[in-house]
Amino acid sequence: MDQCGGSYTPEQRRKFFISGPQWAGNYEGHALFHAPTREAIGFEDVIRELGAMGVGHWTTHDSDVIATDDLLTDAQWETVAAINKSLAEHDVKCSMVTCETFHHAVWAGSPAAEAPEVRAYGKTRLENTVDIGHELGAEFAVYWPGTLGYMVQGGIDETETLRWFADGLNAACERDIEVAAKKGRPTLKHCLEAKPFEPQAQIILPTSDAMMAFISSGVLTHPEMVGLNPEYLHELMWGGATRAVLARALLAGKLWHFDINDGYPLKHDVDLGVGLVNPLDWLNVLVLLRTHGYDGPFNLDFKPPRTTSNFGVWKVSFPGAVDRFITLWEIAGEVSEDPVLKEAGEALRAGGTAVGGDLSAVVDANKELLTLHELISHRLFQILIGQHRGRTFSV
Ligand code: GLC
Ligand code: MN
Ligand code: MN
Repeated sequence: MDQCGGSYTPEQRRKFFISGPQWAGNYEGHALFHAPTREAIGFEDVIRELGAMGVGHWTTHDSDVIATDDLLTDAQWETVAAINKSLAEHDVKCSMVTCETFHHAVWAGSPAAEAPEVRAYGKTRLENTVDIGHELGAEFAVYWPGTLGYMVQGGIDETETLRWFADGLNAACERDIEVAAKKGRPTLKHCLEAKPFEPQAQIILPTSDAMMAFISSGVLTHPEMVGLNPEYLHELMWGGATRAVLARALLAGKLWHFDINDGYPLKHDVDLGVGLVNPLDWLNVLVLLRTHGYDGPFNLDFKPPRTTSNFGVWKVSFPGAVDRFITLWEIAGEVSEDPVLKEAGEALRAGGTAVGGDLSAVVDANKELLTLHELISHRLFQILIGQHRGRTFSV
């Protein structure tokens, strides 16, 4: 890594609203067919490492560092106090909390299962996550609901499940309003995260667009408090164009939080580090976000590969992901300023030279103009690899 160069200082990295999840730092390399390859580490280590490298924000599930049995007991507040101490010590802020409603056996039928006692427990966990969020000074709450009871078809009534899921979110928003008022803090931004098929089978709310339809379907008591946390890869997983997904969320004013990573279309949730697979697409995504003034968090929701060591997680994975992101963000700035792209964009918007009602003249004029789309793509590639600055290779 030292020989690679191209890294930023902790001070430079801290200028960005980048957050590091506890679950990414602590990921042990396990999966359905994979035994762990790394040792588990605690929040103290993750927060210390993030602070030292210049990632100024930390995110967590309620159960990442508090054992499920300790949640909703006095013991959880001791851990929360210890987390706050660590955060202060390393100048890191907790930006987001998320409620784990998928891993524990109680969620086998999802947090919106038929059994009232499961839903009652789910609601309590969601409310409790809001309490923890306020205590940690978070601004955002994220919800990835898991399978939502949909392993087989016909076994559940989907409309009922959706209403029950809404009941949980409504409870979280109502608790938030109460706690925020008591603490004199703003309410949290509640962000829904979609994933099309994790862990298995079908899912009721598979995409960010489905989540947006759900937000405006009339079942939420506070739809204005609920927005989106799209994840780059989750949209590729269903074959979507992430940039178009983000554009739709921007139009609706719901793009509040963004999970950044990389991977392959129509494949599993491999959660690779940002820019390792689709750097050009990532550049285009960041151009869109820069153009439209997105100022929310960039959450490093990736998984250091199973082949990387505990040491490598902090020496290679995290700083590599952060620095690729910053580089792509800066290149996106160059794209916005590039004179060739500007001229091409203006020419396209001005339209063809044909005037009047002659349809074939309109077609002809635009036929030439529209070649600029491919020229723009070529130019974006050049900017990505530095060719616009005259970088060539001998043949
Ligand atoms: C799970 C999901 C991840 C999501 C997180 C937040 O870990 O895999 O994508 O961001 O939960 O709830
Ligand atoms: Mn995610
Ligand atoms: Mn993912």
